[in-house]
Amino acid sequence: MSEHTYPSVEHLTLEEKASLTSGGDAWHLQGVEAKGIPGYMITDGPHGLRKSLAVNTSETDLNDSVPATCFPPAAGLSSSWNPELIRQVGEAMGEECVQEKVAVILGPGVNIKRNPLGGRCFEYWSEDPYLAGHEAVGIVEGVQSKGVGTSLKHFAANNQETDRLRVDARISQRALREIYLPAFEHIVKTAQPWTIMCSYNKINGVHSAQNHWLLTKVLRDEWGFEGIVMSDWGADHDRVASLNAGLNLEMPPSYTDDQIVYAARDGRIDPAQLDRMAQGMIDLTDKARAAMSVEDYRYSIEEHDETARRAAVESMVLLKNDESILPLKKDAKIAVIGEFARTPRYQGGGSSHITPTKMTSFLDTLAERGIDADFAPGFTLDLTPADHALETEAAAIAKNADVVLMFLGLPEAAESEGFDRDDIDLPAKQLHLLAAIAETNPNVAVVLSNGSVVSVAPVAAHAKAVLEAWLLGQAGGPALADVLFGEVSPSGKLAQTIPASIQDDPSMLNWPGEEGHVDYGEGVFVGYRYYDTYGKAVDYPFGYGLSYASFEIADVAVERTGANTARVSAVVTNVSDVDGAETVQVYVAPGKADVARPSHELKGFEKTFLKAGESKRVVMELDERAFAYWSEKYGDWRVEAGEYTVEVGVSSRDIVASVVVELEGDGKSQPLTEWSSFGEWRADPVGARVVEAVEAAGENGTLPKLPDNDMMRLFIDSMPINSLPTLLGEAGKNLTAFMLKEYAAATE
Ligand code: BGC
Repeated sequence: MSEHTYPSVEHLTLEEKASLTSGGDAWHLQGVEAKGIPGYMITDGPHGLRKSLAVNTSETDLNDSVPATCFPPAAGLSSSWNPELIRQVGEAMGEECVQEKVAVILGPGVNIKRNPLGGRCFEYWSEDPYLAGHEAVGIVEGVQSKGVGTSLKHFAANNQETDRLRVDARISQRALREIYLPAFEHIVKTAQPWTIMCSYNKINGVHSAQNHWLLTKVLRDEWGFEGIVMSDWGADHDRVASLNAGLNLEMPPSYTDDQIVYAARDGRIDPAQLDRMAQGMIDLTDKARAAMSVEDYRYSIEEHDETARRAAVESMVLLKNDESILPLKKDAKIAVIGEFARTPRYQGGGSSHITPTKMTSFLDTLAERGIDADFAPGFTLDLTPADHALETEAAAIAKNADVVLMFLGLPEAAESEGFDRDDIDLPAKQLHLLAAIAETNPNVAVVLSNGSVVSVAPVAAHAKAVLEAWLLGQAGGPALADVLFGEVSPSGKLAQTIPASIQDDPSMLNWPGEEGHVDYGEGVFVGYRYYDTYGKAVDYPFGYGLSYASFEIADVAVERTGANTARVSAVVTNVSDVDGAETVQVYVAPGKADVARPSHELKGFEKTFLKAGESKRVVMELDERAFAYWSEKYGDWRVEAGEYTVEVGVSSRDIVASVVVELEGDGKSQPLTEWSSFGEWRADPVGARVVEAVEAAGENGTLPKLPDNDMMRLFIDSMPINSLPTLLGEAGKNLTAFMLKEYAAATE
């Protein structure tokens, strides 16, 4: 018992070990009472604590939970591009776990927003894995700094809700490594989440819970994960196969621990594997012990509400602001229209649904701050058709206002965990009302509330300003007032592209799949990686967002720091007379590559707060991975030698400076064979010398002379050298043999 506070696994009976690998009930680990190991509580997540009141049962009532601070869901928080703020949100959630004696909070969820129709896009961070990983890591670090654990989920490839429990996501190794795994990888390597939750779906034919490649080879052997893996709720369909694959914990329990016992006895489970899985559970309990022993801890509801407000402020993205209609003047005659101003939509539906500690709507905030405004709901938040009386009332207050502030968005029933959306349109009755109001009064500013992307063009057509407010959590009202009245400049940037039409999305050809599977045919070309590479028009690009302040970026410099690494620096200046924040973004654009690569990819960002007139230098390091792609041929990351352009900008479509760097490459190579093409021989350093020898032999007549014109050179370059006889007859056979012999001699 030396290094473990609780007995180590060798002091447990087989039955006790088996019991540790499933939960005690829907929200508790299964302790081993006889050995003094407690069964701590674990619960949702991810943007606040959803501690079910139905404890000690197997119920999963989604709406009956202990009040907790409702922070902005990831759809909002991801737009902050502020890892430090996100870390503070994590710290606050960790404190709430300590008070509520919850050992692990089930989040964050870092699956890629492959398609905006995905039902859980509101819970996920981005279409970009670098951004998702570098933001969500703050939640993990923040929560865990309080002595409680996180559960990074859903590992991996839960990118749609349609058929989510069964669907087979067929994804290339390259797309997995470059798009669907890196957010997990970054967080595992930098923050060691205590737990990971596997996804429901299959990946390339194997359920995640039973996927040895995923849970053991990649997660533990390659990335060095030290924690435990639990199943998503009901995702474990074969206890024995899952345990062998590397799943420590089945949640909720299926009361089948005897299966583990039998399998360990008859050799279907290696005793060492059971020990590893069970020991992981003891270690988890051990890590949580100190925080779970704290008595009478009380977090500050007020302070956490304030953190939620600050987070909400940075979650909003100003998409349009013609004639600087925003910020509003407090003494202006304002008409507020839209039920969302009174009944905010502040979080998504499903397992993440939180009972907030407080709730302040925008209208409440106006009243609290003594700001006068007329209000009309304009529409109802259900899916019923337009209500003429409500519309008439709204038009009446709009008529004589200086500014009309319209709150539009998606009602709760339109998006949730459990189903995908059919389109990205706002309800027709809201758009109809907007058009009518804009006819009455052209000074319209729209605030949008939606978890996943909506089509903004029909809104922007009738509004001078559009503020995408996503879902803002419980303090959205005051946060909105701060931004709309200019107490703070908006500083959010889009974590996902707003497309011109959902039909433009690269995954639409394979969405949401058929007959139990979905092919990720777009490969690595997800979101802006597709739109930017193929020059497609979008409504608002990835990384975009306006401020009341204006900024200039200058003195961009890129220096090599190693064979395949670089440092980027730039000076950003607030050239306006209002305070604000700018996010400098670094994209890497590869030159000529052996594989089809996106035209550029985000590899660094830094948000900087600048007072009016202030300047700061930002410095970002690009490691080797920033330039690499996953090679299926090598089964490894590859950095090719050559030129790469490092771009510095403020969105994926607004690059202010580009610098070319020449990298040495990683020097990885594979032996040439008769199946290597003539072009591959030419490109290889040893192969090139052999080709030179071939050419010399052609000149002196000992081998056939290769045709010497551009067309034929290209033709021959594409042929494996064992095909040369087809073109050159028996002499071609001699040529192939000569090349292989020369190569063997040179590489001995
Ligand atoms: C969700 C998870 C959640 C779990 C427990 C599942 O249906 O996919 O995200 O943590 O339920 O509520």
